Amino acid sequence: MARRECDGQEEALSEQWPFEDVTQRSHIDAPHIIRKALSEEKRVSTKTSAADLVTETDHVVEALILQELQTRFPSHRFIAEEAAAAGAKCVLTPSPTWIVDPIDGTCNFVHRFPTVAVSIGFAVNQELEFGVIYHCTEERLYTGRRGQGAFCNGQQLRVSGETDLSKALVLTEIGPRRDPVTLKLFLSNMERLLHAGAHGVRVIGSSTLALCHLAAGTADAYYQFGLHCWDLAAATVIIREAGGVVMDTSGGPLDLMSCRVVAAGTQEMAVLITQALQTINYGRDDER
Ligand code: IPD
Repeated sequence: MARRECDGQEEALSEQWPFEDVTQRSHIDAPHIIRKALSEEKRVSTKTSAADLVTETDHVVEALILQELQTRFPSHRFIAEEAAAAGAKCVLTPSPTWIVDPIDGTCNFVHRFPTVAVSIGFAVNQELEFGVIYHCTEERLYTGRRGQGAFCNGQQLRVSGETDLSKALVLTEIGPRRDPVTLKLFLSNMERLLHAGAHGVRVIGSSTLALCHLAAGTADAYYQFGLHCWDLAAATVIIREAGGVVMDTSGGPLDLMSCRVVAAGTQEMAVLITQALQTINYGRDDER
C-alpha cells in the first residue's frame, strides 16, 4: 500500500488508504506499552470527575500514535482523547480526520483489570471510513472498513440477529458522572431493560470493547450516555460492517459528537432500546 498522505476526498476514496498500514502497525508499539504498564504502579489523575481517570501511559500512547500518524499524514486532522482533555477542540470537518482513544478502559487499566483497548477511527467528509480497535491483553485486532466487512484477527464478524428484548444480553457503560440525578437515571434505565425481560445487562469498563462484543454477536445491544467520539468512531464502522445498526438514543441518526448511542444487531432491537431509555444529558464533544 502506498505510504503517501491523502489530502482530500478523491485520494481518500482511492486505493491509497492507510487502512492496512494502520491495522498492521496498531498491534506493534502501543499495546505493548499498555500491557507492560498494566501491572506496574501508575500515576493517576482525574479529569471531568473523580471517576474520569487518566495516567501517564494514556499520554505516552496518545503521543506515540499521533506522532506516527502526523508524520505520515501531515495534512490530516486529529481528534484525540487526552488532547481534548487538555483543551483541543473536537470538531469533525470534511477533512480526513483520525479519531484516537489511546487507552479505552483507563479505569480498568488503573485497577489492572485486563479489559483495555486502543481505538483509532478515520473519517472523511464527516463519514466514518474505517476503524481499528486492539484488545491489548487478549491480542484481538478488530477492524472494519466501509463496504468491506469487519474482522477480528482475520475472522469475519457478524452481529446477532436477535430482535426480542426479552432474549437479549445488553451492554452499557456508566459514564463519568456520579451525581445523584445522573446515577438515578442510569440505574433506572438499567431497571427498565431488566423489567422488559433482558437476560442481562453488563458493564465491562470499556465502551469500545463492549461495542466489539456487539459486532461479534456475543451481545445483542449496547447503549450509553456519556461516552465520546473517540469511544464510538472506530466501533461504529466495525458494527455497521458486521451488519449492525448504530443510532442516536432518540431513534434518529447517530451524531458522533452527541455523547450518546444505541447500537444493536438489528434495527428492531435498537428501536426497543431507544424506547426504553430516559435521556441523560452529557452535552456535546464539539461544544466544550
Ligand atoms: C471510557 C470507558 C468507560 C465509559 C466512558 C468512556 P476511557 O473511556 O470506555 O467505560 O464509561 O464513557 O469514556 O476514559 O477509558 O478512554
